[in-house]
Amino acid sequence: MTIKIGEVIAVHGTKVTLKIFEDSNKDTLYYNGDKYKGVSIREYISVQRGFRDIVCIIEGEYLDERKFEEDGKKTYYIRKVEAKPIGYFDHGIFNEGIKFLPMIKDSAFLLQETKISEIYSRDHTDAFVIGKMLKEEIPISLPWQRLFNSHIGIFGNTGSGKSNTLAKLYTVLFEQKLENIGNKSHFIILDFNGEYTENQLVGGNYKTILHLNTQTAGQDRFPLHSDEFWNLDTLSILFQATTNTQRPFLNRVINGRKRYIGNDDSLLNYIKGTFRAAFTAASPKPETLDLLRGIAKILEANNLSDGLQTINWHGQGQKFYIGISETWFQSDGAAYNSILSNIVEDITVNDLDSLDELVVRANLQLIRDLIHGYVQFEHIQPLLKRVESSLSSLKKVIAISDEHDNSKLLTVISLRKCNQEMKKVLPLLIAKHFYHIHKNTVETPPNKTMHLIIDEAHNILSQQSFNEHESWKDYRLELFEEIIKEGRKFGMFITLASQRPADISPTIVSQIHNFFIHRLVNDRDLFLLDNTISTLDNLSRSLIPNLAKGSCIVTGTSFDLPMVLEVNRLDIAKRPNSEDVDLEMLWAETR
Ligand SMILES: Nc1ncnc2c1ncn2[C@@H]1O[C@H](COP(=O)(O)OP(=O)(O)OP(=O)(O)O)[C@@H](O)[C@H]1O
Ligand SMILES: [Mg+2]
Repeated sequence: MTIKIGEVIAVHGTKVTLKIFEDSNKDTLYYNGDKYKGVSIREYISVQRGFRDIVCIIEGEYLDERKFEEDGKKTYYIRKVEAKPIGYFDHGIFNEGIKFLPMIKDSAFLLQETKISEIYSRDHTDAFVIGKMLKEEIPISLPWQRLFNSHIGIFGNTGSGKSNTLAKLYTVLFEQKLENIGNKSHFIILDFNGEYTENQLVGGNYKTILHLNTQTAGQDRFPLHSDEFWNLDTLSILFQATTNTQRPFLNRVINGRKRYIGNDDSLLNYIKGTFRAAFTAASPKPETLDLLRGIAKILEANNLSDGLQTINWHGQGQKFYIGISETWFQSDGAAYNSILSNIVEDITVNDLDSLDELVVRANLQLIRDLIHGYVQFEHIQPLLKRVESSLSSLKKVIAISDEHDNSKLLTVISLRKCNQEMKKVLPLLIAKHFYHIHKNTVETPPNKTMHLIIDEAHNILSQQSFNEHESWKDYRLELFEEIIKEGRKFGMFITLASQRPADISPTIVSQIHNFFIHRLVNDRDLFLLDNTISTLDNLSRSLIPNLAKGSCIVTGTSFDLPMVLEVNRLDIAKRPNSEDVDLEMLWAETR
């Protein structure tokens, strides 16, 4: 049948020791036209047990020395290998797991290469191939049916080939299934480094590419529905509001707006009323003056701005006054009516975009709150400062509009030209946006799927980070934790690629179903993998620090057994823009 290579001589628990006939240590053998790999570490043999073939993987090999004294002093060696059963063929079909163990004197055979590929990929009809097995060089078809409805993690040190693997996975998916998935699934790539903004993954007709840029205006902007913008969570994300005082404050701003929605004059009246209130309050507050000046500036009400410049605060009298004529603003309103009322009446609020409106409304709310003694200025002011300082970058990257076009298969969002602050905030906003859209429109069981792909995921999913508020960090992680915990039910799946799995929130890593693990050397990362990936075996684990570029261990719930895959490199045109620098070219002598 096939090549017999030895027999079982010991079984300890799940460890099997075999005696190997000496002549079978060739690398590759051919027999009856079939190709076989010789007996060596990480190769497979089958042990015949009745009508089943138990497949074992070889874990060690050694020589046992034995002297025979008959003809002089000749020494014979017995070659022994240690192997571990991983599954069995029953009626030609591979089953994973240790159900049957070999017994002493069972014969061992080499396994045909075709059988090996059957172990790792069950269906050959619908071949989904992104690479080949590292040692056997057999192309392996991945179980796409079970892979893309799971959360996927791609880990490895920088330059180990993660981006290539990620791109290859989705390139092959789109190449094969494009016709059928178009209107049923939506893919979003959060691309921190602009690696996927050219010809990668799928043809131009099927994708929308957004180059978000906080440096120059007039570029692409991410569209947010106005309801979505005027939402407590969104604003809290955008401006990193603290939960105790700033969030309730934003809530008042939002509700104030909501109450008068549809009434075009309400904002204008609100502004006018607030000006009056600030200068006629029984106990006026000095901080309100700057807030009023801020409003006048945004509304481009120049007369009003000039007028407000002449007003001062009198600390002893606890009142506003006009320096030149020594007029005091009192609660009787006389000074206000004669000096400011007319100028205030002239202001208009046309063409105010949502972001400006937010600043105006936040200032108004704070003025009101201060006059009524609801809040302390110091608690809210940092929030307003953040709103003001992020305003100019936000205006360049988000557009608040009620028109949306999510009709294309793939949306690539490049954050390469965004400043640090936006790199933190936008992914959250975008993830939330798509998660809610999807959650609210999908049926159960899901009739649509959404796939969020995040390369360089440590940028937003890191557990520790400095310079950021605790509560903001919680918020940030909570959203992704929710997506990763609940998303599966709604047909929302995440694919993460990162250099430092140990830095990513453990809750997130532990929910990932399938892993592509490239070279990783740091102990902390390896330790984490040991603890979170139940399907990783020792032999595969020991290979991780020494994997070559592009090779990775593939393991997880969609795979019966861990395998070492050498991912094919993409064609030049489809490679992510992450090539190594070629110094020979760069520093070439020029004439
Ligand atoms: N399967 C592969 N075969 C051969 N070369 C590869 C393979 N995958 C990647 N490379 C090469 O390795 C280099 C780095 O690859 P890649 O950008 O995918 O790494 P990475 O892990 O994403 O790195 P980083 O963490 O810095 O983003 C590139 O020059 C790429 O062409
Ligand atoms: Mg990369």
